[in-house]
Amino acid sequence: MKIKVNNLVSSLGILLDLNQKASQVNILEASSMVNYDFKKFSHHSIKSTYIAMEICNELDFDYDCKKKVYVSCMLHDIGINSSNNYYLDTKQLIHDHCEKGSKILEKFPKFSNLSNIIYYHHENYDGSGIFNISKDLIPIESQIIRLSDIIETIYYDSSSPDLRKHIIEWVKNNSGKLFSPLLSSAFLRISKRDIFWLNLDNISFHDFVFKKYTPNFDLELSLREFLDISYVFADIVDMSSSFTGEHSKNIGDLSYMISSSIGYDEEKCIKMKIAGLLHDIGKLAIPRSILNKNSSLTIEEFHIMKSHVYYTNLVLEKIEDIPDICEWASNHHEKLNGKGYPRMLTGESLSEECRILAVCDVYQALREDRPYRKGLNNDTIFKILNESCNNGFLCKNALSHLKNAL
Ligand SMILES: [Fe+2]
Ligand SMILES: [Fe+2]
Ligand SMILES: [Fe+2]
Repeated sequence: MKIKVNNLVSSLGILLDLNQKASQVNILEASSMVNYDFKKFSHHSIKSTYIAMEICNELDFDYDCKKKVYVSCMLHDIGINSSNNYYLDTKQLIHDHCEKGSKILEKFPKFSNLSNIIYYHHENYDGSGIFNISKDLIPIESQIIRLSDIIETIYYDSSSPDLRKHIIEWVKNNSGKLFSPLLSSAFLRISKRDIFWLNLDNISFHDFVFKKYTPNFDLELSLREFLDISYVFADIVDMSSSFTGEHSKNIGDLSYMISSSIGYDEEKCIKMKIAGLLHDIGKLAIPRSILNKNSSLTIEEFHIMKSHVYYTNLVLEKIEDIPDICEWASNHHEKLNGKGYPRMLTGESLSEECRILAVCDVYQALREDRPYRKGLNNDTIFKILNESCNNGFLCKNALSHLKNAL
């Protein structure tokens, strides 16, 4: 079983864009005077990557460099997440997300060589950036991301003639300061072409960044390597809410344990573990104010919260090589009696694997402390779970698999 790196990177790009839209950051970066207001960020990773790839093409950079730029630009803000979004100190946020992002990349099999590029993606050419390194000491890939990231941030939503002019002037004025003359002049050439701006304006209507700009990686991950990446994301999801502790990690462990006690083969057990680790990955698309609210949700907030499973599906579907994991993870809130969400599937369409994950999710949630109640003990939990089975919500067999495994 192999997972194509191309698909994985596209999927992570979508995830990070959803995450940034849901994050609440509004900061003014002192060294560039750029206002990063993430509420307006939409398709930030994808648009920045498009700009970055145009610059690579304009300068005829070699294939190896293009690959590095593509992946690291798509993932450049991977360090932004979690409950610690409410930074008062801009410098600290910039410093921390560079450092954290590079640490995350270090754990990625096949991508660990990009960690340095992420670390330096807010450096300025003249050395006035966050880590004060300058010129050629800044990896060229980081320099390209810096330029593309800022252009995308100033550009925002559509390229009126005035906005184009403003961006072009801005890049010109910052040549030699924020950006190298080489990169600035490449961008100034690109910016003369209408097609560049039209593509940027219409990026959400087509998949062309993925289709036309993805270098051919010829790289595949083994299931084990994908498991390592899944741990990283389980951690990010768990950290994004202040009171779910190690929910994803625990569901991963539980679903693995049940799978092996049923006697699934090792590959399938690992897949079940991954489905457990990633089942709530769509929560990264949910505004932190809702994820972290410590009183009951309003009807409208609950409505938004429920959509997390839709986003789990959207992100995992893009990976293509794991349709089974995607199905099991995305159906964890479906119920046998059709009263679940988002598809309102019924028993006939819910596989044993989906049913097991649904049981694990409720079991684990009841064990955890919540702001409005303490974690429950096993006796109380199994009473609730039995009742749930009797009322047609959860599957009796799946529940007895859980009991046996425990
Ligand atoms: Fe950044
Ligand atoms: Fe960015
Ligand atoms: Fe969930």
